Amino acid sequence: MVAVNRDWSPFVVSAPGKVILFGEHAVVYGKAAIAGSLDMRAYALVTPRTDGKARMVLPDIDVDITFDCQALPRLSSEDLSHPSDVEPLVPSTIAIPEGAGRTTVLTFVYLHGCIFGEAERNTGGFTLCVRSLLPVGAGLGSSAAFNVVLSTTLLKLAGRLQAEGTSASDRKLINQWAFHGEQVAHGTPSGIDNSVSTYGGFLKYVKGEPSVSLESSHALRVLITNTNVPKSTKVLVAGVRALRDQYSSVVDGILDSIHSISTSAAELFQATNTVSTAALEQRTQELIRINHGLLSTLGVSHASLEQVREITAAHGLASKLTGAGGGG
Ligand code: MEV
Repeated sequence: MVAVNRDWSPFVVSAPGKVILFGEHAVVYGKAAIAGSLDMRAYALVTPRTDGKARMVLPDIDVDITFDCQALPRLSSEDLSHPSDVEPLVPSTIAIPEGAGRTTVLTFVYLHGCIFGEAERNTGGFTLCVRSLLPVGAGLGSSAAFNVVLSTTLLKLAGRLQAEGTSASDRKLINQWAFHGEQVAHGTPSGIDNSVSTYGGFLKYVKGEPSVSLESSHALRVLITNTNVPKSTKVLVAGVRALRDQYSSVVDGILDSIHSISTSAAELFQATNTVSTAALEQRTQELIRINHGLLSTLGVSHASLEQVREITAAHGLASKLTGAGGGG
């Protein structure tokens, strides 16, 4: 018997995007990365319904889909060998959209199935409307921010949050489910995007370890350029994996160098009392230039990104790709 909880008020959930300064791709292989949250967020408005339906509306990517909650599968994460295997479990009445909407539907079915699969109550139905200030496919963590708001929404509706998402244990749970959402979208993510989106701030991240918050009294000014060239994180991460499978010692050397860049940058950002702002900026720019060169060797740059790099270099500024690369 599932208890029905219809006694709840509309609520809003939001989560930030992220910018990776150093260490993307290498972080998938256990190397360090440095990233910060952005003041650009995804926002979800969740309102109750009484017809037992779950409607997901994402106007930014033209998704408007209504599920019958009873027809959605109840899952345990052990039911699938990988979260991305969820597609055959999507009810046949649902037409899975192409493009950016596709993974949002698969993720919704997976997370709803797992989170409510383990919960004792249902909601009577709800409408979830998500708007995002984060451009899709630009390397700024739009997918992770979506997964954090979706996980928070479903956990709250299922009565599984103890402190409205503010306690350490709530955040851990949100982050875990958002990571599974990222697995649906990207296959083998490192977890950096969902961690930055869940916890916020500026941090050093190593897969499987608690993130280390980086405190710096110097304000770091970063200019982010969107090339508007679409890319697939899944494809780019798979490309690096294929290169590593073929040239493991060569690629491992590159990944180790990227790790050294991230750890040097973390030390630099924390040595604020001994390093002047001018020295910090100069060394950061050198590390940015070297990191981009290494990423380019891994095959994840793009002509549009090289053009941005050349234009900024002409103005005396170093730049690098951020996130998966390949455009964005
Ligand atoms: C994507 O924002 C960052 C990558 O390193 C992938 C990942 O860490 O999951 C390319």
